[in-house]
Amino acid sequence: MSAAVKDRAALPLAVSATDDDVAAIVALNNQFSADGLTLPRTEAFVAQHLTDYRIVRGPDGSLWGQVALDEYSPSLCELVSLAVAPAAQGKGLGRHLITAAVDLANRRGYPQLFAVSLADTLFLGAGFLQSSIDQYPEKIWRYRAISRSELSIGKKFLFVRDLPPTSPRRPHKTRSKRPSVRGKPK
Ligand SMILES: CC(C)(COP(=O)(O)OP(=O)(O)OC[C@H]1O[C@@H](n2cnc3c(N)ncnc32)[C@H](O)[C@@H]1OP(=O)(O)O)[C@@H](O)C(=O)NCCC(=O)NCCS
Repeated sequence: MSAAVKDRAALPLAVSATDDDVAAIVALNNQFSADGLTLPRTEAFVAQHLTDYRIVRGPDGSLWGQVALDEYSPSLCELVSLAVAPAAQGKGLGRHLITAAVDLANRRGYPQLFAVSLADTLFLGAGFLQSSIDQYPEKIWRYRAISRSELSIGKKFLFVRDLPPTSPRRPHKTRSKRPSVRGKPK
């Protein structure tokens, strides 16, 4: 990628993911999970939530970046799994993917999108406002259910962006729980 491509029109389109992207999504996501920047994901999880992902690919088709939505309730949705491949970072793809997640959340009719992150400049520049995790007990509860160490990442900020009202919410479905062709869920 050429240096400093920050014009959104010059960036590769953020598109839906396919079954062929699952392994690459997991690999990119889990590259950052040891540092607590993303939550670890399995192929079974990603395959089941594939419609919630938006990705960008490089010219050779390799995965450059990803983001996903995680629904807590019809009125509460979190932006998760934001990750850009190290070689493609610093060109505007992170912000581009946040915009794609906002567009998807808006289309699905969520009134608000929140994210928990260390990347303050990134989210503030993408139209999010800083809030407090205390406003989101659902998130605290889920962190506790996953791992106590996640809760201890107290340096993370919570960002929220209100979305414009849309027509009545269209339900969306995650994939049915058919047996994975990729083997047993891990
Ligand atoms: C965070 C990450 C997604 C940013 O992707 P990126 O493509 O490098 O970001 P962009 O080029 O779109 O950066 C846009 C702006 O955000 C800022 N920014 C990027 N990463 C940042 C970070 N970690 N903290 C604070 N600001 C950050 C940039 O400086 C830039 O600011 P500018 O417009 O004033 O120059 C990427 O570094 C990454 O994958 N990191 C590892 C995983 C991770 O931390 N995910 C976030 C989980 S919420």
